[in-house]
Amino acid sequence: MNPLLSKLQPYPFERLRLLFAGVTPNAAYRPISLGIGEPRHATPDFIKQALAASLDTGLAGYPPTAGDPQLREACAGWLSRRYGVTVDPATQVLPVLGSREALFAMAQTVVDASRPGAVVVCPNPFYQIYEGAALLAGATPHYVASDPARNFAPRWDQVPEEVWARTQLVFVCSPGNPTGAVMPLEEWKALFELSDRYGFVIASDECYSEIYFREEAPLGGLEAAQKLGRRDFKNLILLTSLSKRSNVPGMRSGFVAGDAALIKPFLLYRTYHGSAMSPVVQTASIAAWNDEAHVVENRRLYQEKFALATPILEKVMDVRLPDAGFYLWAGVPPAWEDDARFASELLAQYNVTVLPGSYLAREADGINPGRGRVRMALVAETAECVEAAERIAKFITSNT
Ligand SMILES: Cc1ncc(COP(=O)(O)O)c(C=O)c1O
Repeated sequence: MNPLLSKLQPYPFERLRLLFAGVTPNAAYRPISLGIGEPRHATPDFIKQALAASLDTGLAGYPPTAGDPQLREACAGWLSRRYGVTVDPATQVLPVLGSREALFAMAQTVVDASRPGAVVVCPNPFYQIYEGAALLAGATPHYVASDPARNFAPRWDQVPEEVWARTQLVFVCSPGNPTGAVMPLEEWKALFELSDRYGFVIASDECYSEIYFREEAPLGGLEAAQKLGRRDFKNLILLTSLSKRSNVPGMRSGFVAGDAALIKPFLLYRTYHGSAMSPVVQTASIAAWNDEAHVVENRRLYQEKFALATPILEKVMDVRLPDAGFYLWAGVPPAWEDDARFASELLAQYNVTVLPGSYLAREADGINPGRGRVRMALVAETAECVEAAERIAKFITSNT
């Protein structure tokens, strides 16, 4: 067996299952889960139709790993319309089967474990794939705590120089899961300077970019680079997907774009790994990337939902409307302190599931930056999310 497998941590939902094993939810309420961050709005019909229409022709041959040029052009077209960014679809774009596998595969492609002390830097709290990808690539993750006083910006400035010197890959998550924070241009600038100095690759996970609550759409990594005159996107790769943008998490479709010098070895790695996208999915993906109306409507639904649920929770918890994403990252009232206890008592009394924040972060320098917080995924229908918020408010006021 690969000994690195034993380094993997249990997934947050495994820990949640164990936590809830001894809890009896109050049967007077129907269950509502704000636990799993899985889109639940309906898949647009035109995407399903595109998928179905290509069944006759799309299954009879092996697809190339690089994908159909038309798909790469659709991705490049979207980048241009959304960010004003210009990329060469032939050398700077590659389809992937959702951002999750691409984040993982990127670490396997980039990390040179034969160099002593390889480090992969992750935000903390974070999407656990970053950690698993780093560990299985033979690197050590270094966790950078988010700062609640600065809209949960990762404290890049606290990474010791000797760690930067061994860093080969940095994961950025903007908009952040679970914080919803969007990384501003000054922070990109600082990170690019560090990348230039130490030679590491930046993998920018942007899969929540189309669900936002401010007037301005979230700044993207390639957009930031272009604004700063870095037109070759040196050492930068963007990862995005249709899962949240177009409500197709089951389709497994996304793409990466950026530095051609990274895309080339990434394609080589993927050819051996065998992660080519089905032509059926490619056809539906082209239709999805080329349409924006459904994205506007999807965003409107989230905006409406957050506008109703957030004020209810703001009255009882340390929480506010995030920049983007579909999570509320809420501080639990001092009466609980322990986020896991908050989650299990909430389930027992009001049958609402939330995810303890400490399960989404690691303790580093004696601090777990998720402690005392919970993540609520507002993915269900508006009425259900509002009811959950009302139950949580009742739970807090009746227990304090
Ligand atoms: C931060 C983050 N990145 C990536 C993903 C993976 O999404 P997908 O593989 O569907 O693109 C998720 C999924 O929840 C996520 O939260």
